[in-house]
Amino acid sequence: MNKVVLITGASSGMGYATAIFLASKGFTVYAGSRTPDKLSNLENIHPFFLDVTDFKNIQKNIDAIGRIDILINNAGYGLVASVEEVSEEQMEDQFNINVFGVLRLCKAVIPTMREQNDGIIINISSFLGKIGLPLLTLYNASKYAVEGITDSLRYELSDFNIRVHSIMPGFFNTEFARENLKTNLETFDENSPYAKTVSNLTPLIVEQINQGNEAIEVAKKILEVIENDKYQARVTVGDKAKKFIPMKKELSDEDFERRVREYYNL
Ligand SMILES: NC(=O)c1ccc[n+]([C@@H]2O[C@H](COP(=O)([O-])OP(=O)(O)OC[C@H]3O[C@@H](n4cnc5c(N)ncnc54)[C@H](OP(=O)(O)O)[C@@H]3O)[C@@H](O)[C@H]2O)c1
Repeated sequence: MNKVVLITGASSGMGYATAIFLASKGFTVYAGSRTPDKLSNLENIHPFFLDVTDFKNIQKNIDAIGRIDILINNAGYGLVASVEEVSEEQMEDQFNINVFGVLRLCKAVIPTMREQNDGIIINISSFLGKIGLPLLTLYNASKYAVEGITDSLRYELSDFNIRVHSIMPGFFNTEFARENLKTNLETFDENSPYAKTVSNLTPLIVEQINQGNEAIEVAKKILEVIENDKYQARVTVGDKAKKFIPMKKELSDEDFERRVREYYNL
């Protein structure tokens, strides 16, 4: 029997590459997206409309699918804003998608996996789930939260033979910088007190994302995690993650901060 995968945010980037790659390896892929039409007519892929902010919509789809062996929480976007200028709505939306979206999917899928006594949950976090950067406070906090969800669920679900992992990508050339970086207008105004940080940092980050690794590398890493039932809790993928995460482990917080300041001219 083919293993059944549910992936969120599947219409572009890592989600799309993973859906296609796992389908080519014989998995039955349920590809959740706000624009499922982008995924029609692909072999072994069943696109469906998914709104990660709407628990009823999630539950209805999961009930209809039935068996789910692997959940890949991938949908997410990045907010670029100073904390001083960010709006309530922007703060809530960042966590609603990147954190509560992950929790809603887990909440809906866990009963099925628990009854099966079998399941894998893979959360797409970020190397920024372990590292802070200015103007990305809300995004980074959301990814730190995803790391916390992963760590806690590993204990909570191990009795039911459900594995939980996080994948921490570095910068990847997806639609992320082109479509899914949302900016705060005040922060990007030339009179903002953060104008210097905006002009030093944001073009560099956008460039690094657009010149980053290719999404297929994440798809291949996901397959490694699925195929090895002893796989480690979390894994990095991509150049920036491989550079910064080991450095973060080795250095003191202060030395690490110094290196990041030098690297990003902060
Ligand atoms: N690219 C990078 O450098 C990078 C680095 C580290 C981590 N990540 C993480 O990797 C994951 C995949 O991103 P990607 O790089 O593949 O970028 P992407 O091409 O922009 O894809 C992100 C997907 O997330 C979904 N999404 C975005 N905004 C959403 C919203 N407001 N509500 C619901 N869904 C939304 C969309 O799916 P649908 O339109 O299909 O619904 C979108 O296709 C994200 O969680 C991101 O934070 C990316």
